Amino acid sequence: MKRILSMLVVIVLVFSMGGCAKEEVVTKEETKTEEEIKTEETKTEDKIVIGLSLPTQSEERWVRDKERMEQVAADMGVELLVQVANDDSGQQDSQAKNLLSQGIDVLILAPHDATAAASIVDAAHEEGVPVISYDRLITNTENLDIYLSFDNVKVGELQGEYITNLVSKGKYIILAGAPTDNNAKLFKQGAMVYIQPLIDSGAIEVIMDQAVDGWKPENALKLVENALTMAGNEVDAILAPNDGTAGGAVEALAAQGLAGNVIITGQDASLAGAKRIVEGTQSMTIFKDTRILGAAAIETAINLAKGEEIVGLNGGVDNGVKIVPSVLLTPFAVDKDNIDELLIDSGYLRKEDVYN
Ligand code: BGC
Repeated sequence: MKRILSMLVVIVLVFSMGGCAKEEVVTKEETKTEEEIKTEETKTEDKIVIGLSLPTQSEERWVRDKERMEQVAADMGVELLVQVANDDSGQQDSQAKNLLSQGIDVLILAPHDATAAASIVDAAHEEGVPVISYDRLITNTENLDIYLSFDNVKVGELQGEYITNLVSKGKYIILAGAPTDNNAKLFKQGAMVYIQPLIDSGAIEVIMDQAVDGWKPENALKLVENALTMAGNEVDAILAPNDGTAGGAVEALAAQGLAGNVIITGQDASLAGAKRIVEGTQSMTIFKDTRILGAAAIETAINLAKGEEIVGLNGGVDNGVKIVPSVLLTPFAVDKDNIDELLIDSGYLRKEDVYN
């Protein structure tokens, strides 16, 4: 049987008599059940809990994403439970399912493996937990709610446009990102818009076209070493999909005394990439402002948790079985001419770090 609790409620009545306001204090007894009181208490204490599953922290950009989301979550008064999968889809699967068992309201998931992560989304759906695919698309699931990223084909187009502007004929090494990452396909697709016609016309000769497993710099280093050996060190340009792989490629070039002589792309505006641009061993990078992406993810997660409408949707991306409603932010090409304006003036990197 429920215990009935009695409380005294003080009500202040204000009424006017003959033009003068008069206050009268009335005490009234009100009864509430224990259950009613508990519900009221949990309502006020009930924080939104967001789960975040990241693929890695071995690259600077993913460290920034994590820090940004932690900061915005704290500012907005929501709880963020974070797991890092160390580039392992099995680990990501068990970590994400563990987050689900902790009663999260929304899951932000940046997959290590686009296809393998579909089972996490399906498990979340079973529990009524909406999923945001963060930066990388999760493919082959109808249950994905939203995709937040950059325009990744545009990233590739900026790289392809840049490299072909500087090297419109000559010998190319073409590197792509990890085959498990849907972004890698989109980056390459965009870059080839500019490169393929020059291959077709015979102006560009491709001496190597390879994916870099796991996005690992050491794999890029080995590939470029091999390509340089095959081509007798005659290489004019390297399409490197991000700053990590560009770093590996520059190391291979440096070992042959070629660093600075070969046009080479990148992506992520990492500090190491920016420093190489300034010293002239890397030609460009792509700036994707992860501060905006991270904040958008937390805000969107809160909207989803409250069942509110999602703001900022500007596209739909096909994940193989569904067009996923998407927010795609704009990427920018950065080289030595605009690095100060885009990366330093915006506060993304510090001048004293880049130029030392
Ligand atoms: C991201 C890039 C990153 C790469 C390797 C991609 O999915 O979009 O910013 O460099 O993964 O971590």
